[in-house]
This record gives sequence, structure tokens and C-alpha cells, in this order.
Amino acid sequence: MATETTTAPSRDAHSNGSSTLIHLDGVTKVFLTDEVETHALSGIHLDIRTGEYVSIAGPSGCGKSTLLSILGLLDTPSGGSYTLKGTEVANLSFPERARIRNREIGFIFQSFNLIGDLTVYENVELPLTYRGMPAGERKQFVTEALERVGMGHRAKHLPSQLSGGQQQRVAVARALAGKPAILLADEPTGNLDSRNGEAVMDLLKELHAAGATICMVTHDQRFAEHADRTVHLFDGRVVEDRMAA
Ligand SMILES: Nc1ncnc2c1ncn2[C@@H]1O[C@H](COP(=O)(O)OP(=O)(O)OP(=O)(O)O)[C@@H](O)[C@H]1O
Ligand SMILES: [Mg+2]
Repeated sequence: MATETTTAPSRDAHSNGSSTLIHLDGVTKVFLTDEVETHALSGIHLDIRTGEYVSIAGPSGCGKSTLLSILGLLDTPSGGSYTLKGTEVANLSFPERARIRNREIGFIFQSFNLIGDLTVYENVELPLTYRGMPAGERKQFVTEALERVGMGHRAKHLPSQLSGGQQQRVAVARALAGKPAILLADEPTGNLDSRNGEAVMDLLKELHAAGATICMVTHDQRFAEHADRTVHLFDGRVVEDRMAA
């Protein structure tokens, strides 16, 4: 059932009239392995508004990837509430989650995660095919996304025929092709040299300037500064939530 969301007063102080896209209320995540309990997230409260660029920072193991996976509906919280566009999504069935993820989430992984035996074009097209989008519209969306990341001229290449930086740009095109509500990126420059890393980060910055909502995990302070806001995690909790100066 849809649940109305409210915005925490602290965030209202920074609001520019945009609406709350994501609202996490007391989200927890506990992993159970060989009778060991890991509390990866312990009571996360977080709002992300439409049009924001948020970076998530914190030491290794503090829960950044776990948080991003939950935001991206790749994983479910153990407790708490997650509302996306006003709809409670924490406890949806697997197919419902997959459907919302396909439409609302664009995920960019550190390791690109392109499918090796599909062309660049087919990789970007696949999520739109899953969505049941008609072929003509798919062509328009894929072409637009590849042009947006400067990879239109490589549409027929296989991922193995591209540099790492180019592969990540294709992965960005795949993430944005379906016009999702938010782009989520987990260490998108982690497998890139510094020049290619900067190019991918500049691309994200441009997408944000053109209106995209982005939430990104990065270890790199230089890139964190591209964001409007940095949320620091420690031991599964938000310990600082700071707007850029
Ligand atoms: N699938 C899993 N099963 C068991 N424990 C897990 C699982 N995924 C993560 N964890 C544990 O949860 C905690 C948070 O992990 P997470 O991957 O979110 O950290 P992170 O902040 O992304 O770290 P890094 O900066 O190294 O990527 C860690 O202690 C980790 O060992
Ligand atoms: Mg991680």
C-alpha cells in the first residue's frame, strides 16, 4: 500500500522546492552467515530529493554498498521503511521489486557489468526490452542514451573491444536510457585509471546539471566534491550529512 512521506525538518532547510524522491526511515540490514550476525546498517534515516547529487562516504565495511543495494531494490532491508516516490517498497515481492527497479532505478557498478556477448547497442536496449517497450521507441531511447555519453559510434562493438572508460560510459548509457528516477553508482571509477575516472565523473556531473538525481558511493574525495551533499556512514549509521559549501 502506498504511504505518504514526510520530509525531515533538517532537510527542508536545504530544500529548493523539489520533492522527496527517497525516504528511508530506520532502515536496518543484518546479514547472517555461519551463525555470525553482521549489522551492516543500523537505523538509517535518509531523504533524497529530486534533482539532488548525493555522495556516500565512509570507511571500508561501513555499509555503503549495502545501502546502495537497498536503495536500488537489489536487496531488501531487514527492518524499517523505504518509500520511493511515495510508495512503500521495503517489503515488495520479487517481481514487483524487479518491475519498479527496471523503471525507476539506473544502477552503475564498479565492474561495469555489461553482457560480454551482446553489442553495446544490445546492452543498453536489454532493460527496455524487459520493460516491454516497443522496438521503435527502444531505438530512439538507446540512440539518445549512447549519444549522450559519446558512444554512438561504438554501437556495434562488443564490450571486450572497448577500453574500461568506454565500457563504463556504456554502462552509464544503459542506466540512463530508460529515464529512471535516480541513478545509483557504486564506486563507478574504482576500476578506471585517473583520466578515465575523471571523464566518467564529468559525465555524471553533466547529467546532474541536466536534471538527473544521483546517489554515488566514492572513496575519492575529489569526486565526492562534485556532489551537492555528502552523507558519511560509520558502522552502519549516518554520522554526518553535509551540504557542499
Ligand atoms: N552478502 C553478505 N553477507 C554477509 N555479510 C555481508 C554481505 N554483504 C556485506 N556484508 C557485510 O556487511 C558490512 C557492510 O558491507 P558493505 O559491502 O556495505 O561495505 P562498504 O562500505 O561498501 O565497504 P567497501 O568500501 O569495502 O566497499 C561488512 O561488514 C560486510 O562484511
Ligand atoms: Mg562497497
